[in-house]
Amino acid sequence: MDDQASTLIPRPFEVVAKRRETHDVTTLMVEPSDGRSCFGFEPAQMGMIGVPGVGEVPISFSNHPDTSRCLSVTIRNAGAVTAAITGTEVGGVITVRGPYGTSWPIDLVAGRDVLFVAGGLGLAPLRSAVFAVAEESAERGSVGIVYGAKTPEDMLFKGDLEIWGEYDDVDVHLTVDAPTEEWTGGVGLVTALFEEALDSVRTPLVMMCGPDLMMINAGRDLVARDIDPSDIWVTLERNMKCAVGLCGHCQLGPLFVCKDGPVLRYDRVADLLEMREV
Ligand SMILES: Cc1cc2nc3c(=O)[nH]c(=O)nc-3n(C[C@H](O)[C@H](O)[C@H](O)COP(=O)(O)OP(=O)(O)OC[C@H]3O[C@@H](n4cnc5c(N)ncnc54)[C@H](O)[C@@H]3O)c2cc1C
Ligand code: FES
Repeated sequence: MDDQASTLIPRPFEVVAKRRETHDVTTLMVEPSDGRSCFGFEPAQMGMIGVPGVGEVPISFSNHPDTSRCLSVTIRNAGAVTAAITGTEVGGVITVRGPYGTSWPIDLVAGRDVLFVAGGLGLAPLRSAVFAVAEESAERGSVGIVYGAKTPEDMLFKGDLEIWGEYDDVDVHLTVDAPTEEWTGGVGLVTALFEEALDSVRTPLVMMCGPDLMMINAGRDLVARDIDPSDIWVTLERNMKCAVGLCGHCQLGPLFVCKDGPVLRYDRVADLLEMREV
């Protein structure tokens, strides 16, 4: 069977560990249970993750892209399929096919400062890129991570955020809409943190993931601060069925998000994103 055909066939993966991230988000760590090795992926690539008899949905891989550690998926319980996946207990089996789609532009990082911008669950598709850039790219410049969530309890990967903030030349900037009494970070939109973040990263390469409205506002704000639109990369989420450019479910204007994306350069999608919001 050739590589393309083999990525269309769901493979069984056993849930080997499970971690509750927030009240409605769970990370599953999974390993192949068909005796074959795990497949590799590039940061931001996704898999079609399923439960037999229920369905399958697109989910980004959230672990370190070194696949000897196998796969993690971080999933918000949004409906029937995600409930069935996150409800699978350790020892149970889900299906995975992939990897699909484009990846974050890690090859452009050498010699550049990098700004990661995430909203809510958007930190999940960015996590593998932060591992690759902040932890492993010796050639990178300074790194800024701007992350916003509804409340402090809704923040994902708190342990990672703490560790990343301790690295040389990595600054983490956090904000929430609704603070608790103990909260010491910012309050408000991620855009309110750009001024302080851009103090330590100069003309950065930007990688951004969050709700469409957040990306529209953040993209506009960054361009107004003289960041070149061709230096901003976003990842998009659309309903998907085949994930290989055949069914048209994920179409956004002339683009198929499963094949042309999910990572796309902002100057290619800014108008399409704005059109959908009006
Ligand atoms: C490239 C890509 C990467 C993704 N990565 C993640 C991830 O890492 N973690 C995660 O929790 N979710 C991710 N999603 C979203 C996830 O696929 C949807 O939440 C899921 O399909 C919902 O299916 P459901 O049957 O549980 O809910 P449904 O009942 O089908 O839908 C629940 C709600 O989610 C909306 N929705 C359905 N499918 C999608 C979709 N594909 N994208 C956006 N909204 C959708 C529906 O319109 C509805 O409002 C990703 C989507 C894409 C396209
Ligand atoms: S999901 Fe079928 S064309 Fe993209």
